[in-house]
Amino acid sequence: MRFEKKYFIANWKLNKTLTESCKFCEQIVDAIHQSHVWIAPSFCNLHALAKKFENIKFGSQSVSRYPQGAYTGEVSAKMLEDVGAKFSLIGHSERRHVFNETNDSTAHQLKEVLQTSMTPVLCIGETLDAKNNGLTKQVLSIQLEEGLKYGSDQAFQLFIAYEPVWAIGTNLAATAEMADEILAWIKMTVSHLNPNISLKLLYGGSVNLDNIDTYLEKKHIDGVLVGGASLDLQTFKKFITK
Ligand code: PGA
Repeated sequence: MRFEKKYFIANWKLNKTLTESCKFCEQIVDAIHQSHVWIAPSFCNLHALAKKFENIKFGSQSVSRYPQGAYTGEVSAKMLEDVGAKFSLIGHSERRHVFNETNDSTAHQLKEVLQTSMTPVLCIGETLDAKNNGLTKQVLSIQLEEGLKYGSDQAFQLFIAYEPVWAIGTNLAATAEMADEILAWIKMTVSHLNPNISLKLLYGGSVNLDNIDTYLEKKHIDGVLVGGASLDLQTFKKFITK
């Protein structure tokens, strides 16, 4: 395996029942050797999956900005940790654009996750409009500055997924060169914002079988965050045995 040190993170979004999720995982467990395979299923399936499949790390697709209280429909970081979640996505583009999450809410979510043993995976990315107006780094800077404003002053591990909004689910992936250049810049920016962070960098947005190697070969890309292509068993199996 060429890419055994890389991270393969599946974001299943609003897909797969518990029965379907178990069936999928049963068919990939034997293919997982050294690679880091992380899956974000729906909240309600996390507990059962985490108990059943020990060599896969399961995490949530989002997390409440609040620790507890009268917040109907919310799931806290502590609750997730308690049912076996090992990581949480924060600020995914669909949370920001469909559910109106802001940079301020991602900051609160990060703060909550850092009070548990889970690894935060902060997702950032610019819209097509911002890109076309040459504002990519400006948008990303604000997402980083705001998102990390409550970050701990203790050392902590953070994953950042660069997911351009225009590349998610569109088949218009960023080139590996562009992703690598942006991630190198993110690394430098984060080290200035908070030197306590130990950082891993991911690319996400229309990753597929034809382009995945180009990302994994890049110096600054530690792994990929995959939506659509992670739902297909044969495709995901090929990813994790790369
Ligand atoms: P995609 O989604 O791979 O379907 O583009 C990526 C994501 O939303 O994380």
